[in-house]
Amino acid sequence: MGVLWFLFVILAAGKALELTNEQYHQMPQLFQLDDYEKCLANQRGAFCLGSFDLVAPPDNHLFNVIQKFSEEHYSFNHTRIHRGYCVSSRCSDVDEVSLNRKFVKCVKNITQKHYGFDAKLSSLNYCKTSKTPPSRPIDSLDVAFIYFCGIILLMNVIGTIYDFARNPDHKPNRYLITWSLAESWKRLTNPYENGDPRLTSFSPIHGMKVISLILVMLAHSIIAFHMSYLQNPQFLEYASRHPLSTLLHNGSIIVQTFIMLSSFLLAYNLLISGEKDPKNGLNLRLLPRVIFNRVARITPLNVFMVGLTATWWRHMSDGPLWIPFVEEECAHCRDKWWAQFLYINNFIEPDKKCLIQTWFLAVDMQLYVLAGFLALTLGRSPRRGVKVLSCLLVCAILANFVIAYNWNLKAILFLTYPELMRHQYAGQPSFNLMYMAPWGSLPSSLIGLIAAFLLYYWQQVNFKPEESLIFRILYRCSVPSIFIWILSGYFIKNISSPIFIAAYAALDRPMFCLIIVVAMLGFINKIDSLWWQFLSWNGWRPLSRMSLPILLVHWSYNLTQIAVRTNLTRSSIFEIGGHWFLTIVMTYVTSLPLHLLIELPMLQFFKVLFS
Ligand SMILES: *[C@@H]1O[C@H](CO)[C@@H](O)[C@H](O)[C@H]1NC(C)=O
Ligand SMILES: *[C@@H]1O[C@H](CO)[C@@H](O)[C@H](O)[C@H]1NC(C)=O
Repeated sequence: MGVLWFLFVILAAGKALELTNEQYHQMPQLFQLDDYEKCLANQRGAFCLGSFDLVAPPDNHLFNVIQKFSEEHYSFNHTRIHRGYCVSSRCSDVDEVSLNRKFVKCVKNITQKHYGFDAKLSSLNYCKTSKTPPSRPIDSLDVAFIYFCGIILLMNVIGTIYDFARNPDHKPNRYLITWSLAESWKRLTNPYENGDPRLTSFSPIHGMKVISLILVMLAHSIIAFHMSYLQNPQFLEYASRHPLSTLLHNGSIIVQTFIMLSSFLLAYNLLISGEKDPKNGLNLRLLPRVIFNRVARITPLNVFMVGLTATWWRHMSDGPLWIPFVEEECAHCRDKWWAQFLYINNFIEPDKKCLIQTWFLAVDMQLYVLAGFLALTLGRSPRRGVKVLSCLLVCAILANFVIAYNWNLKAILFLTYPELMRHQYAGQPSFNLMYMAPWGSLPSSLIGLIAAFLLYYWQQVNFKPEESLIFRILYRCSVPSIFIWILSGYFIKNISSPIFIAAYAALDRPMFCLIIVVAMLGFINKIDSLWWQFLSWNGWRPLSRMSLPILLVHWSYNLTQIAVRTNLTRSSIFEIGGHWFLTIVMTYVTSLPLHLLIELPMLQFFKVLFS
């Protein structure tokens, strides 16, 4: 049956339009970029960047080929060309006073001359001369950010000096000690989690988190390449057709691991803490405290990163692509910083992306509140809790199916096409209303809760999953299934039935999370020692504790690396690999001080302050 289905899908897949190398290069170059520095070094230099739509006389053969090729999902839209010209030198013969009009005329003329097409301006990014002042001078917000950092640094210095100078025999001042760098370092490297052996057995989760985050960085490196001005767009276009590239296109689902883990750890910790106080147990009065701890942990770093993006980031470099990439993102952060801080940035102007990955923080926070509520209300009886949560899970999946079917929303797999990635999915309802909407991730959160309740229940009744044959078989299948599930997207992409697409949108994430949960429960219960040893390696622990700064910082490195280019970007496996490697190294190097100087001390400080 499976084989038949496989064959059917392959046959149904249809053949992609292939162009020979020669034909490909007959199309107008998708990107052109003149030498920005040389251009603006000239006293009268002027540089413009913009996108143009090609317009051809009817029945133009080349244009038909371009259109056909552009209609392929895996192609960039070649009827829209992107040009960054040194207007002063390239278009000196065009007599036009206005710089913008000169640029437009110039592109028209050159496109006409080379390809016989007319070009219509679709969007002008900017025009600037060597005398144009920086578009955004240093302002009061920039200064305020410096003060913010200065105060945090000062608190750290005071706390650290205090810690070294104090008499170790006396009880330390509980406010000052939270700012001690030595204390923070101990927290980062401390091998124990609260000392409860049940929590210590969670050590493989550290490895899972670190590896997932490294893969998230890879996915974002690839998105960054899709956004840049490419010398050889055909590399990405052809690479996208390769079956293995599905691992990347469908791989962003790995983020669901974090949603699942955050509700899993929350619920399990609550269940354990309920034991300590059997009389009161778990009740809803704990909810504000639970939410407060989460907000106190995430908000300081979130404020720092959004602040940095909105202020000093744009002053760090310059280049032809600096304005569209960095300054634009900075403007978005200035517009919607309040939504970022309230964790509703996924609802407010979703097309304006201020740090694209922060949709996760918003969804995670929204679901955390719900997960906290459910864990506290159902925590008294884990067994009943599992049943109620399973019902909720089924309802959530059905609701997602209805939403997806009704509004024609698709899983992210159907959106990972070059042209959509180029625009960071702007204007895609599937991205805004499914991918980064809380209901899209709700099943994952519920699965995390179920896993926590189930594990706790098993421990209560002394059931050992490692002794169950069924569980062992499921576990053995789980790790390969992760890859199979992601890779199967290659075939699913070609299916066009709306019911199937909606069903996939509803089932994709829960299926993946179920597989991950089985694997995780297997890791935790040490079903096989190889995985356990690998994922519990001590080196993962500090890296996994820095997950929040890593999540917040890495995109800025992804984007900066392409925004500082002054020339077309060449894409190849090595180039993307190098980009990825640099992002990983720089992200870790930056995350360490952020974790030690901001995240840990602020969290402890708030906890002491409000306890
Ligand atoms: C490509 O861009 C042009 C101009 O914006 C647009 O009219 C056309 O529909 C696009 N083609 C595809 C396949 O998206
Ligand atoms: C392009 O510029 C040249 C001058 O170099 C001019 O002679 C020609 O008419 C222009 N062509 C168009 C289509 O504007």
